[in-house]
Amino acid sequence: MKTKCSILLQLFLGVALLLGMAKSDPDPLQDYCIADNKSPQYFFTNGAPCINPDEAESSHFATSVLSKPGNTRNIFGFNVTLTNTVNLPGLNTQGLTLARVDIADNGIVVPHSHPRASEVTICLEGLIHVGFVDTSKRLYTRTLRAGDAFVFPKGLIHYLYNGSPMARAVAVSGLNSQNPGAQLTSVATFTSIPEIPDEVLKKAFQISEPDVIKIRRNLGG
Ligand SMILES: *[C@@H]1O[C@H](CO)[C@@H](O)[C@H](O)[C@H]1NC(C)=O
Repeated sequence: MKTKCSILLQLFLGVALLLGMAKSDPDPLQDYCIADNKSPQYFFTNGAPCINPDEAESSHFATSVLSKPGNTRNIFGFNVTLTNTVNLPGLNTQGLTLARVDIADNGIVVPHSHPRASEVTICLEGLIHVGFVDTSKRLYTRTLRAGDAFVFPKGLIHYLYNGSPMARAVAVSGLNSQNPGAQLTSVATFTSIPEIPDEVLKKAFQISEPDVIKIRRNLGG
């Protein structure tokens, strides 16, 4: 009897934990909450404070920020343009972000993770090799052509690589948070402020002091 009870309890706790972990942004309590980007902020909420709903206009729900390619002239050859509560105030509290991903020929969106969102990407142009690694170190990969889509589960390290030396690639991603956050694995590890102690990086990556210095310099740290 006792064991049956504890098995049930374990099951219940397991399901509750799973549901809790799968949660994205909290549900909105109103139809919309247009982000107030003008008033000075005196108090800080989970998300942006809203304007008076009577002042809502269609333009608050529209943006053209994704219409232009981002500048990909950087060491990795990629640029991500995101909607957010400033360029698309009607997005506030809706639990959504749309991202335009431009990748130069041979460019790469380096391995990174989004702590607060799952992501689904559709390739619009070019050929993109995508992949993510799960918590048991298994790699899932695919080559996307125009029209193909791929899911990156929440919080897992993933990348997008344009293997073509001739053509750019363009993708659009939807993420289920208005503030997904992004940590580029190599950049966060080697160029944090202040720096992670060299001893830690040497041990973690099994590299020498000159390696640490070189990688930091390569990544602009
Ligand atoms: C991305 O593109 C925008 C617009 O061209 C530019 O202002 C920004 O500096 C670029 N970001 C990177 C990391 O290159």
